[in-house]
Amino acid sequence: MREAPTTDPHAGFPPPLPQTLVAEDSHALAEEAGRLLLSTIDEALTARGRARIILAGGETPRETYALVGEGLRAGSIPLEKLAWFFGDERWVNRTHPRSNEGMARDMLLRRIEAPENTIHSWDAGWGNPVECAGLYGRRVRELMGRPEDAPDLLILGLGADGHTASLFPGATAHLPGGARVPVSPALPGEAAAVEGAAERGWRLTLCPVFLRTSRCVVFLVAGADKAPALRRARSGESATPAAWIRGAATWFIATREAMGSEEPGYGREILHA
Ligand code: 6PG
Repeated sequence: MREAPTTDPHAGFPPPLPQTLVAEDSHALAEEAGRLLLSTIDEALTARGRARIILAGGETPRETYALVGEGLRAGSIPLEKLAWFFGDERWVNRTHPRSNEGMARDMLLRRIEAPENTIHSWDAGWGNPVECAGLYGRRVRELMGRPEDAPDLLILGLGADGHTASLFPGATAHLPGGARVPVSPALPGEAAAVEGAAERGWRLTLCPVFLRTSRCVVFLVAGADKAPALRRARSGESATPAAWIRGAATWFIATREAMGSEEPGYGREILHA
């Protein structure tokens, strides 16, 4: 039986406003993020007996993943109850230094000895990127397509241009059905191949409608160059891809320098670590 396509949980009513936690520096960010991610995983295990976690790529999450690994090892968490996915991937195989999966395996999954059958890889870097997106999208729909199976935790980064996952402003998404459409907040389905993201070559990404089904979304943001994009993402500016992703709960964990000179805005809580 074909699963029904993912529907937008926020269609019709706005998601709860995001909370922002400002950390002194990138080390404090990793500590705060590590605590929040571990408590979110714990809550999911208590509430649903399992946790589905979508990991971010890039550089910023590295130290956070190492701390989460330490916490999971110390907590003797039933690893078979955790399922690991990747929000996006570069068109390289997992042994390549630019692989997001490779980074997450180095910094977290190998350190906790996550069972291989709990790690859901894009298997990128060989064959055809659009077919690869189709296969991953189907697996994600099977495992997390029903509301009761929604992702428990989605970790995302932020680019200075406002991109998140591989949802780049102005890029073209190649959908598994063959359509080529501009990357947008209404990008349908679970996964797509993305082209035209500047010099980055082909990318694979989970799509906004699916990502918005996540129970808890956590953005990790470090670096002064991110301040304008972070302001736009937090204020919900519609041309900024990171503003398209909100969950049942949404957190921005940002370093002070990434916040720039941000003043507390209406309704948006800013907590200082
Ligand atoms: C990737 C990421 C991407 C990343 C941002 C921020 O594949 O690069 O998934 O969305 O999160 O580009 O990257 P940094 O953390 O390295 O600044």
